[in-house]
Amino acid sequence: MSFENILLERDGDAAVVTINRPKALNALNAATLQELDRVFTEIGSDDSVSVVIITGAGEKAFVAGADISFMKDLNAVAARGFAMLGQAVFNKIENLPQPVIAAINGFALGGGCELAMACDIRLASENARFGQPEVSLGVLPGFAGTQRLPRLVGKGLAKELIYTGDMIDANEAYRIGLVNKVYPAAELMAAAKKLAEKIASKGQVAICLAKSAVNQGLEMDSARGMAYEAEVFGLSFATEDQFEGMSAFLEKRRAEFKGR
Ligand code: CAA
Repeated sequence: MSFENILLERDGDAAVVTINRPKALNALNAATLQELDRVFTEIGSDDSVSVVIITGAGEKAFVAGADISFMKDLNAVAARGFAMLGQAVFNKIENLPQPVIAAINGFALGGGCELAMACDIRLASENARFGQPEVSLGVLPGFAGTQRLPRLVGKGLAKELIYTGDMIDANEAYRIGLVNKVYPAAELMAAAKKLAEKIASKGQVAICLAKSAVNQGLEMDSARGMAYEAEVFGLSFATEDQFEGMSAFLEKRRAEFKGR
């Protein structure tokens, strides 16, 4: 697969996707979103990939938002289409069979913060900055920021961030639950890869089902969520990994998971 705006590399069982427009602080135009759609479609059906890491090229930005030069002259219909494209790509990431770790290595603003929020786990460097600055441009978040931010940090904080357009630093993002952990910039990728390796060493089908149970459950009332959990818990007993994982525990040895 060849791309103009992203890079795809392998690191053991992990795929590393890098948004590669450092001169524009990795801003997302339609072409970049289409390439992300393509790469995540491929990764989603690649059994050899257990985990994905997504990051930004350069030392300054993860993604500084949707591309303002691209958006400036859009009419209402085209802007709605652009929002729907971004939302569809981020939904694909959120619902990818494999877990996705965002390694947030700098500015994560607007569409960049929205991309990070679509990932399963967010790790940030100390120099990362977060925000939804769209109101400063006379628009509002359009890649699901009004939906994912309140679900992650609560309605009050989400509204404050969206109405003021304020930027917060990595420690504040950690404090409000927007990121899982903060690392010195030079240690971020190694930490993301170590986490990816740990996740890849577990039962992959179980992780895929757990991801689905959390994501689906958050869209349901808790009784339905629990019923869904019981279904997929049952389903995990149809895998070789379940038998291997439990046998290995009882035989006091390390499990050799096959992902089936
Ligand atoms: N779109 C297009 N280009 C962008 C960009 C963006 N979102 N963010 C930065 N750039 C470009 C700049 O225009 C600049 O290009 P030139 O060198 O050609 O002038 C280059 O990246 C470097 O940026 P700065 O010179 O501005 O760098 P800085 O260090 O002074 O500031 C920054 C960094 C605070 C991130 C600043 O660039 C900034 O505020 N960027 C815009 C952030 C923003 O508003 N994001 C939200 C976009 S709207 C959105 O995302 C809608 C949605 O939800 C779908």
